[in-house]
Amino acid sequence: MSSEMLKVEELHAFYGKSHVLQGVTLEVRPGEVAGLLGRNGVGKTTTLKAILGLVRRRGRVRFNGREISSLPPHEIPRLGIGYIPQGRHIFSDLTVLENLTIGLVKEKGVPPDRLGAVFSHFPVLRTRLKQLGGTLSGGEQQMLAIARVLITGPALLLMDEPSEGLSPVMLATVRDRIKAIQASGVGILLVEQNVRLALDTCHRMYFMEKGIVRHEVAAGDLRTDEELISRYLAVKV
Ligand SMILES: Nc1ncnc2c1ncn2[C@@H]1O[C@H](COP(=O)(O)OP(=O)(O)O)[C@@H](O)[C@H]1O
Ligand SMILES: [Mg+2]
Repeated sequence: MSSEMLKVEELHAFYGKSHVLQGVTLEVRPGEVAGLLGRNGVGKTTTLKAILGLVRRRGRVRFNGREISSLPPHEIPRLGIGYIPQGRHIFSDLTVLENLTIGLVKEKGVPPDRLGAVFSHFPVLRTRLKQLGGTLSGGEQQMLAIARVLITGPALLLMDEPSEGLSPVMLATVRDRIKAIQASGVGILLVEQNVRLALDTCHRMYFMEKGIVRHEVAAGDLRTDEELISRYLAVKV
């Protein structure tokens, strides 16, 4: 086993002729939360999509020492990489239980221990199983989006702006769940623009600008580096 869980080297990505990622290099170590921060449009979402093979790309992606950049996208979740996309994308017309179990078709039912683990992280979902996804609040939908991936038993989670549109109370819940999921041994690559959430959860952070990672900092060093924060993000801590 290598010292890094996910290793991304010189990743380039393209939308048509538009060359959006220009050589992104980053890693996620086992059991850590690594942050990927930067303003709108710098290529954070594209980085996750390129790791997953969902956009045209060039470069190297290794997961637990294995080169995965030549694999078709549908093989990636089976390796233990879960993706929680920006904007949640839960199914509005399916119940909470259906949303939770839709990714498990191949497993012939829900492993009871996984369902238990998901409910221990998100007890509110247990009380909403028959409710349609579209009737949940924004915060509850975010929890469902996380739970739906967690139930597949990933070793690594790629999370895209889970804080987006959340109330302060829900933000605190999501923060606590990220910490708890990390503490259970899952590695996390957290894309965020909310620097507070990133500071509270990440061990290390990468800052992106125009399709490339410009800086890597340990979370403890960033707290005092207001210049870095104002350069890469629109907000103050
Ligand atoms: N489907 C797409 N087709 C063409 N350009 C896109 C597409 N998605 C994103 N882009 C462009 O790629 C760049 C990076 O976008 P994105 O990865 O979504 O940034 P971020 O997640 O950091 O806000 C932006 O300039 C955006 O306009
Ligand atoms: Mg994005």
